[in-house]
Amino acid sequence: MLLRIGSLTLTGNVLLAPMAGYCHLPFRLLVRKCGGAALAFTDLLNAEGVVRETCHTLRLAQTCAEDYPLAMQLVGADPRRMAEAAKWAVDHGAAVVDINMGCPAPKIVRLGQGARLLCDTDLAVRIAAEVVRTVPHTPVTVKMRLGWDDGHIVAPELARRMEQEGVAAVTVHGRTAAMKFGGTCRLEGIAAVVEAVRGIPVIGNGDIRTPEDARRMIERTGCAGVMVGRAALGAPWLLRHIDAFLRDGTLLPQPALEEKCRLMREHFENACRLRGEEWAVREFRQRITWYGKHLGP
Ligand SMILES: Cc1cc2nc3c(=O)[nH]c(=O)nc-3n(C[C@H](O)[C@H](O)[C@H](O)COP(=O)(O)O)c2cc1C
Repeated sequence: MLLRIGSLTLTGNVLLAPMAGYCHLPFRLLVRKCGGAALAFTDLLNAEGVVRETCHTLRLAQTCAEDYPLAMQLVGADPRRMAEAAKWAVDHGAAVVDINMGCPAPKIVRLGQGARLLCDTDLAVRIAAEVVRTVPHTPVTVKMRLGWDDGHIVAPELARRMEQEGVAAVTVHGRTAAMKFGGTCRLEGIAAVVEAVRGIPVIGNGDIRTPEDARRMIERTGCAGVMVGRAALGAPWLLRHIDAFLRDGTLLPQPALEEKCRLMREHFENACRLRGEEWAVREFRQRITWYGKHLGP
């Protein structure tokens, strides 16, 4: 179950996904304490904001000793700027530098960043090469979707080229950018990427809600690890359950209601301590609906 990402050996193969606005330090600490998260990611960090050290970006990049190992995820389309941001990330606690090539949000793709790089794979490769060259002692990874749309599936070829440039692992969300979050994750698309690369690990991502989903993803695609996003928002214990199941088939029982309430309180206390009470209250107005899905009988 160990996963090697370049020079970094992870203790498991279940990863917490980057989710802008959700996977900040208070939540990452909660998930890590629940167990099972071999690696966690920051929110999307805009390379320009990183280099200029804007307040907003510094807050998104906030980390601490217990938040290890951490991948800092960069977004941008200028190879030089991305490389400078990668250097900053390594100097400020990143164990892994991840490059976003999957975000379909209009405000990102309009700038030629995120998933738009799937339409200019030469530029995508140049960005990765420049980042790898600038932080040679830190693993660099790429998170991508299958392609821009069904007519332009590029992930297998792009992942192969990334590997040649020294990228240490790729994560593939099994949807195209055009699908956004609609339809279902295409396992055969992830399998094609696993087949295309020679030796780097491929992390499968998309629609994993249960330990059985994670095992199916691995069996059907041959991926080396799995990344869990939305399903962890209301169930921060899910990664521990997936990790246990992948190791030896153990299906852990759902936490009791009291334990779920204790975890919510811990999340709130983390938020108060790290961001202040006002922020924590606003945060919980949106988070409570995710937790609510798991509080019934
Ligand atoms: C609210 C939200 C924010 C997200 N932000 C990011 C992000 O900043 N970077 C990124 O690579 N993916 C981001 N994603 C995509 C997730 O990392 C993941 O690829 C996607 O949700 C599919 O996995 P899931 O089905 O387990 O949620 C985001 C997804 C959601 C729902």
